[in-house]
Amino acid sequence: MKRIAVLASGSGSNFEALAEAFPGQVSILVCDRPGAMVVERASRLGITVWVHSPREFADKQAYEEAILKIVGTVDLICLAGYMRLIGPTLQAAYGDRMINIHPSLLPLYKGAHAIRDAFEDGRGQYGVTIHRVTPELDGGEILAQRRVVYDGRDIDALEAKIHDVEHSLYIETVKKLLHETSTDQCKR
Ligand code: GRF
Repeated sequence: MKRIAVLASGSGSNFEALAEAFPGQVSILVCDRPGAMVVERASRLGITVWVHSPREFADKQAYEEAILKIVGTVDLICLAGYMRLIGPTLQAAYGDRMINIHPSLLPLYKGAHAIRDAFEDGRGQYGVTIHRVTPELDGGEILAQRRVVYDGRDIDALEAKIHDVEHSLYIETVKKLLHETSTDQCKR
């Protein structure tokens, strides 16, 4: 069975969508924020959680080495609201097996406030992107993109709509990637 690790920092709705869509395959949640809601979701679903603040480690390399040790060999690493750039240690180990979800039509609206930025921009350019992870923020090859149509003025309603699209697009994309990849390709 193909195995998936999820890295997340916050609420974890994408994590939960993936865990429910791929039962038994999401082998571990890595979280950098003790107390984040995603940790509760993982515990409720009976998924192994590794939660440590990077501040507990000497530097980013030590932190990522610890992640590498606990995650081991997996077919896919899904970033789902993981609020940190991936460093050379994880990049070297997992390379293009790491993907991220971003709530905009990249390359539009990179960064942590994409939905708000798009809303304030007022051009109605809303959507979701799934891309491979590179050291560059929200860079990397685009694997899937879906436009979200919304012309109201309620940012919470827009956000809810975007999250719904995120969950289905992430599931579809992961399904496709797992089908395409062989486990051997991702061994260190
Ligand atoms: C999502 O909007 C995702 O695109 C972005 O961070 C948010 C995480 O939401 N990278 P959740 O924690 O999965 O609910």
